[in-house]
Amino acid sequence: MTSPELAVVILAAGKGVRMKTALPKVLHAAAGKPLLGHVLATAERLGSAGPRIVVVGAGRETVGPWLAAAAPAAVQVVQDPPRGTGDALRVAAVAFGTASRVLVLSGDVPLLKAGTLSLLAAAMDGTAPAAVAFLTARLPDPGSYGRVVRDESGSVLRIVEAKDATEGERRVDEINAGVYLFERDFLRHALPLLTTENAQGEYYLTDLVGIAVTERRRVVGVPVSDAREILGVNSRRDLAEVDAILRRRAADAALDGGATLLRPETITLDETVVIEPDAVLEPFSTLTGATRVGAGARIGQGSVISDSVIGARAQVRPYCVIDRSVVGEGAVVGPFARLREGTELGPDVHVGNFVETKKARLERGAKANHLTYLGDVVIGERTNVGAGTITCNYDGFDKHLTRIGAGVFVGSDVQLVAPVSVGDGAVIGAGATVTKDVPADALATSRVPQTTIPGGGAAYRKRRQAARDAKTKEA
Ligand code: UD1
Ligand code: CA
Repeated sequence: MTSPELAVVILAAGKGVRMKTALPKVLHAAAGKPLLGHVLATAERLGSAGPRIVVVGAGRETVGPWLAAAAPAAVQVVQDPPRGTGDALRVAAVAFGTASRVLVLSGDVPLLKAGTLSLLAAAMDGTAPAAVAFLTARLPDPGSYGRVVRDESGSVLRIVEAKDATEGERRVDEINAGVYLFERDFLRHALPLLTTENAQGEYYLTDLVGIAVTERRRVVGVPVSDAREILGVNSRRDLAEVDAILRRRAADAALDGGATLLRPETITLDETVVIEPDAVLEPFSTLTGATRVGAGARIGQGSVISDSVIGARAQVRPYCVIDRSVVGEGAVVGPFARLREGTELGPDVHVGNFVETKKARLERGAKANHLTYLGDVVIGERTNVGAGTITCNYDGFDKHLTRIGAGVFVGSDVQLVAPVSVGDGAVIGAGATVTKDVPADALATSRVPQTTIPGGGAAYRKRRQAARDAKTKEA
């Protein structure tokens, strides 16, 4: 048996007034991904063949391009101005194609699981074919959700919006989740019947339920088992709640995958982050974007890592900030290191405290352990960079490259004035200002000659003390 062709509509044209935001509501991120992205992912997981339709309107200058990049196959239809959810579905109808059923999702209901949607299909296919099946939930505080009104026998009569409800109706704790499966033929004649005669002067999608009941069509309200799944995001508080739930799910996925999370409630993970088995995340670490942590790696307390790859068995010690970088297998970073975009640390590299790197490639076993700036630089295998070394990569106009070979010893407090290169096996004396290329195996120094006066230190102290004593006497 083949399942009926399904059109999936995602409503995303609303203004999101309650968010008090310039950014369209559906582009607000939860666990690192826009709300609309979560809903699209759920639609993708259904694997149905029909069209995916997204209704855009308010903020479509930003939502449109985002969608085109994130879901190029989705059909965008424009609802302008947004005159309610019913109007949005009416606008979407142009793209239904040959679908015989229409699934309606809300761009602001991001926690819904694809498996829960199969409950709707099952309800539609009951003894008599239904015109509408929709998800409901029981909430202790039903707030601004639409209420599901049933008769004494438990059959659905209609959905009433909180703003239109009588006091008695507002006490109903079964709410409409905003997720519906419609028979296409029913929509064809029922959509034109919607009116704006309600408190908000909008076309309510929810009125389709009452219309179906009036027409004696079968309507099924399907309760979900976990009410958190249908949380709608209308305010910043809702967004914070949804974000926390998604991050908790991400932490659980990491734990189930064999990672250790120390005090997981303090760890912040985007849904996109991949953690391999036996990795350890210490408290208050934050990992976002396309970050991957290799097997057996350890991420120190308070570290902030975005869009980076941490190799197997690498150690990121506490309080490192790592962005768009690669840390090789077994490398050791920090504590208090900052790896900026384009840093590539090879295997077993050591980058220690108060070291900043940017577009820096350090090859296998290279070390820069203390107080150093390495920008626009390539450093060969086993090279040791002493404390306080700085690549002077910027001349006020352009950035320039520094090349340091393999097995080089760079003494402490060296400035490398780029563009400059240092050959394999060279030694740079402490305090040198390197402005000219240093050939392989050469020794380069640049120092002001030192003068030493025997007894000069003691004489100095004596002079200063005498001056101080004279002053005290005067006072
Ligand atoms: C809606 C339901 C309510 C339900 C709740 C569940 C209606 C009338 N009410 O209320 O019964 O309990 O969802 O979360 O449907 N949108 C458009 N065009 C518009 C208006 C809205 O595309 O003209 C989109 C919004 O972007 C949003 C979705 O539709 O993604 C829901 O709109 P919203 O205004 O948030 O409806 P609720 O008040 O939450
Ligand atoms: Ca909503």
